[in-house]
Amino acid sequence: MRKRHAGNALGNWYIDTACSDCTAARTVAPGLIVEKDGQSVFARQPQTEDEIRMAWRARLLCPTASVRSDTATEQPADVFPERMTEGVYRLGYNAAHAAGAHSFLVRRDTGSIMVDSPRWTRAVTAKLEEWGGLAHIVLTHRDDVGDAEAYAKHFGALVWIHEWDRAAAKFVSDLIRGREPTAIVENFIAVPVPGHTKGSVVFLHDGHCLFTGDSLAWDFEEGDLSAWREFCWYSWDKQATSLARLAAYDFDWVFAGHGGSHHLPAREMRARLEALVARMKNGEG
Ligand SMILES: [Fe+2]
Repeated sequence: MRKRHAGNALGNWYIDTACSDCTAARTVAPGLIVEKDGQSVFARQPQTEDEIRMAWRARLLCPTASVRSDTATEQPADVFPERMTEGVYRLGYNAAHAAGAHSFLVRRDTGSIMVDSPRWTRAVTAKLEEWGGLAHIVLTHRDDVGDAEAYAKHFGALVWIHEWDRAAAKFVSDLIRGREPTAIVENFIAVPVPGHTKGSVVFLHDGHCLFTGDSLAWDFEEGDLSAWREFCWYSWDKQATSLARLAAYDFDWVFAGHGGSHHLPAREMRARLEALVARMKNGEG
């Protein structure tokens, strides 16, 4: 039975005990929603307009519908898609069968690109229709396929995954192959990063926005880039080698499937990436 988690701050917003600890709510409401005993809770009640919007984001994206409010019924504007930077949006409505991973949209005049897939919902299709449809769906790896097939059929989009993770998405139209970077379209490159899974890929948009799937993320609690050894399904050593290769790119945004998304000057991002790789090669998780 669903119950209010006792760790929530007093007030009308709360998270119930069905929370699967996918961490998604914490990464759209850092500091407001925190971890407590292996689940997410409200550390305090939202007060400002921004905090109320963050709480709504958590509510709409939570794959177990565990983020609840006794009284909040009026959804503010601009909850989702959430604008992250020029042309890049977080879609919300995270899919339970993608373990609550975030998905993103790169809005382009020549055809928008969905990075990983949310759960199938009218709220997403309506906005994409308003914005001119969807040309490509690119999948970072086998875990975050979500409802990509339904979105692809609805919009007639091409779907890409790496050949080594294709078993999770046999419906795809196009494969990324081998270890070398591949252009999906102009200014949007797939870079294979075997490690988290064998077929993990990151996507570089416009030379500075890196969509990282579960290979690399921002940790709001540590204030640093991170990778997860306990959720590395293929090879931690290979993941470190793959991440080291990303230092060749001047990215200043990390958009993660699981974990936080964050902006930093490219030079600082590279320094933090190199420090993370050094920790990984030292056997630290
Ligand atoms: Fe994953």
